[in-house]
Amino acid sequence: MAILLIRQDGKTSQWLNAFNSQASQIECYDYNEPHPKETITMALVWKQPHGLFDQYKNLKCVASMGAGVDFIFEDPSFRQELLMTRVVDPLLITDMEEFVTAQVYAHMKGLYQYYSQQSSSLWQQNPYLRKKDITIGIMGMGVLGSATAKALAIQGFNVLGWSNSKKQIEGITTYEKLDLDLFLEKTNVLVCLLPLTPDTNGILKESLFSKLPSGSYLIHVARGPHLVGEDLIQSIDNGHMCGAAIDVFSTEPLDTKNPFWEHPNIQITPHCASISSPESVVTQIIVNYNRLMSNQPLLNQVDTSKGY
Ligand code: GLV
Repeated sequence: MAILLIRQDGKTSQWLNAFNSQASQIECYDYNEPHPKETITMALVWKQPHGLFDQYKNLKCVASMGAGVDFIFEDPSFRQELLMTRVVDPLLITDMEEFVTAQVYAHMKGLYQYYSQQSSSLWQQNPYLRKKDITIGIMGMGVLGSATAKALAIQGFNVLGWSNSKKQIEGITTYEKLDLDLFLEKTNVLVCLLPLTPDTNGILKESLFSKLPSGSYLIHVARGPHLVGEDLIQSIDNGHMCGAAIDVFSTEPLDTKNPFWEHPNIQITPHCASISSPESVVTQIIVNYNRLMSNQPLLNQVDTSKGY
């Protein structure tokens, strides 16, 4: 009975250290090192190379190291009988609330414009927005979306939420799937926190941007493939959108030739809106591993029939 860690970005040792310090009795292996395949019952993964799960006949559960599970669904070797879990972690939630809030204020106070003025030694006060001028629309009202919506509403922002099924959240006006247009026409800061599924792939495109009021801003913190990059650039260049903060990309690291790098109204960050902390996440993985071993229901289990 053992856990296999699969990630390819050189950070596996931090995760193994967290297991060693919290539960040294649990056998854990790095996929890149030799390991006894028949002992593996749980795989803890982050953007794993596809096609590996078939090699593990005793595998019972695939656990994501983060909140997102899209890269597990996309893996053809994820068998139907396997269990899947995601991370629901207070640190990840706070990270996301703070990051989106910081981007909303940066947009509202025009901070990025001032940074660009600084690079040409330009001393110039610009008019800026106030809370009454802003309606934040959050697409995706899962754990991160709902928490972020509440954090912004508590600060006095007008916040709307859109999700597959209508959610009841105090202080937030919510819309369900078919009411997307109603939601968009009232939103002028659009935050994407959707899960990536075949339905949401490419959803941030020209026809969607055109339904937002003129001068809207995009904060994209979900997954790269939600966004059609050329459509965003076109909507900014033709003056309909005023800009965007983008944290996630279809190819990460972002190609140095990507036009986002140079665009004056696009601010990019390297997928850092919320970052899983191995120490914090490993604690819940250990709980789930013990539950798996004793045939108890898992925490934060993904309903694989829903696809996200
Ligand atoms: C980050 O992108 C995550 O899914 O946790």
